[in-house]
Amino acid sequence: MFDNVFVVEHPLVQHKLTYLRDKNTSSANFRRLVTEISTLMCYEATRDLPLTETEIETPITSMKAKIIAGRKLAFVPVLRAGLGMCEGVLSLIPAAKVGHIGLQRDHETFEPMSYYCKLPPDISERDVIVLDPMLATGGSAVFAVDTIKKHNPKSIKFMCIIASPEGIARLSSTHSDVKIFCASVDERLNEKAYIVPGLGDAGDRIFGTD
Ligand code: PRP
Ligand code: URA
Repeated sequence: MFDNVFVVEHPLVQHKLTYLRDKNTSSANFRRLVTEISTLMCYEATRDLPLTETEIETPITSMKAKIIAGRKLAFVPVLRAGLGMCEGVLSLIPAAKVGHIGLQRDHETFEPMSYYCKLPPDISERDVIVLDPMLATGGSAVFAVDTIKKHNPKSIKFMCIIASPEGIARLSSTHSDVKIFCASVDERLNEKAYIVPGLGDAGDRIFGTD
C-alpha cells in the first residue's frame, strides 16, 4: 500500500457505505448517503489543518481559544459525480471556494475527455481538496490534478469514496505528493473499468440517469 493513502475506517462511514453500494438504494437515499459520507470524510481529510489562538471572552472570563490558522481551502468536484460530495463538505467549511472540472470517461478507451474547467482565481493561495466518489483507472483523477497543478495551489488532496488498487497506483505514481482519502479500497476493475464490487455508476445513481 502507498503511504499517501488514508482509508477512513470509522464505523459510521463503513455502515453508510454498505447502503450506498446496495443496488436497491434509491437515488434520493444515495444522494443523502453521499452527502453524509462526504461530511464524515472531510473531518478526516482536514485533520492536519493548523490551529492558532485568539483571545475571546466567555460569559465567565477571558481566554485564549483555538481557531484554524487563516488557511484558505478550495473544493474542486469532478463533474458530474463529484457534485454529490459538495453539500457535505461545505456544511463543515462553508467559507471554502468551489472550482469545477468537467470530465467524461470515453466508453472504449476509458480515458477522460474534458468539457469544462472553472477554478477560483486565487487558487494559488489555497489548499485544494478534489472531490470524486470513484477512483477507478485513475485517469480522471490524474487529469484533474494535472489541471489544478498548472495553477500552483498550495497543496492538493484527493477525496473519493471507493478507490481501486489500479487507480491508487496510477494517481500515487503520477502525483506522490497528493494524499488520497477513501472509505474503501476495493478488489479490482472489471473489463469495463468499473470498480468491483463498487457501487455501479456513481453519476447515474446520484442523478437518477441509469
Ligand atoms: C466517473 C467518476 C470519475 C470517473 C472515474 O465519472 O465519477 O470521475 O468515472 O473513472 P476513472 O478513474 O477510470 O477515470 P464519469 O466519467 O462516468 O462521468 P459522470 O460523473 O458524469 O457520470
Ligand atoms: N465510474 C463510476 O461511476 N463507477 C465505477 O465503478 C468506475 C468509474
